[in-house]
Amino acid sequence: MLILGVESSCDETGLALYDTELGLLAHALHSQVEMHAEYGGVVPELASRDHIRRVLPLTERVLHDANKTLQDIDAIAYTQGPGLSGALLVGTSFAESLAFSLQIPTMNVHHLEGHLLAPLLEANPPAFPFVALLVSGGHSQLMRVDGIGEYILLGDTLDDAAGEAFDKTAKLLGLGYPGGPALAKAAESSKSNGTNPRFKLPRPLLNSGDLNFSFSGLKTAVLTLSKKHQPLNAATTADIAWEFQEAVTDLLTAKCMSALRETGLDNLVVSGGVGANSKLREKLNAATQRKLCKVSYPRLEFCTDNGAMIAFAGAMRLKAMQEEHGNKHYSFSVRPRWDLAELQKP
Ligand code: KG4
Ligand code: ZN
Repeated sequence: MLILGVESSCDETGLALYDTELGLLAHALHSQVEMHAEYGGVVPELASRDHIRRVLPLTERVLHDANKTLQDIDAIAYTQGPGLSGALLVGTSFAESLAFSLQIPTMNVHHLEGHLLAPLLEANPPAFPFVALLVSGGHSQLMRVDGIGEYILLGDTLDDAAGEAFDKTAKLLGLGYPGGPALAKAAESSKSNGTNPRFKLPRPLLNSGDLNFSFSGLKTAVLTLSKKHQPLNAATTADIAWEFQEAVTDLLTAKCMSALRETGLDNLVVSGGVGANSKLREKLNAATQRKLCKVSYPRLEFCTDNGAMIAFAGAMRLKAMQEEHGNKHYSFSVRPRWDLAELQKP
């Protein structure tokens, strides 16, 4: 079966074709980063308008690259949420109307399930069950994953998401947008190292005894530090960025290892934009190796938003439904208890 994947939840339009027998055939992406950069963050209205401009040419591109036509597509998977409503509406209306005209089914995908399953697109994919660290611009969660749709939340952020913390801190330090890659780049030129850091920031909730995160205190600590060193020169900015990255990656690594210990699992899967951070990968590689555990990541381009992860998540759900219901993509249930007051106007 050939599945077209459509991602438009935020500032990237992603299209992909995934074949359930042959794997990923083609994917194409347009990032709006440059367009939003001058505003220092995503402008929702501009994002929606740009998705409209990109979605058709990108669909044509993946069909061309995979040497397929519209008639070869068996189903369309699209991001239904969470995300910016206007942006989501573009992908949704495109996918639903194309599927309607082709008389094929649609699969509405949860954006985070897309991220969570992205590492499974790689060669030697991790097997269920595993612990997943999902670190994106909007989420920082640890999850136990037993199969498609079998997710148990182990830990969550109490305030900012890890990516959000990178973005806000980068802004505070006068680094570019998106903040994660900009801050990581600035940290590279720092002369600090593990035994000799120029600054020391706190590690919130490191020993909290649970698997939750908190990043907003770190951001405030950076604000205080940077006020003390005004005007910030490049070297001080780099040293603060270095220590901030150390603090976030220390926290993420420690909680991942606690999650593996608590669940008794030996398989860790990392996904979401912050999963592209090389310091995080370095620390997770070392820590899992010490405990004889395995860690998997998506390739760098599939850490951030893309259509391939949506096509893949849709394909996995379609496959599971077919195994259960054969080729009929429907199911039904009865409601023995049903309160009349729950009914809504049609
Ligand atoms: O998963 P994603 O593309 O979008 C969401 O679903 O949110 O993640 C974007 C987030 C942004 O906050 C960005 O700053 C962060 O991922 N990010 C990084 C890196 N690359 C992207 N954070 C740290 N280091 C990176 N190399
Ligand atoms: Zn995302």
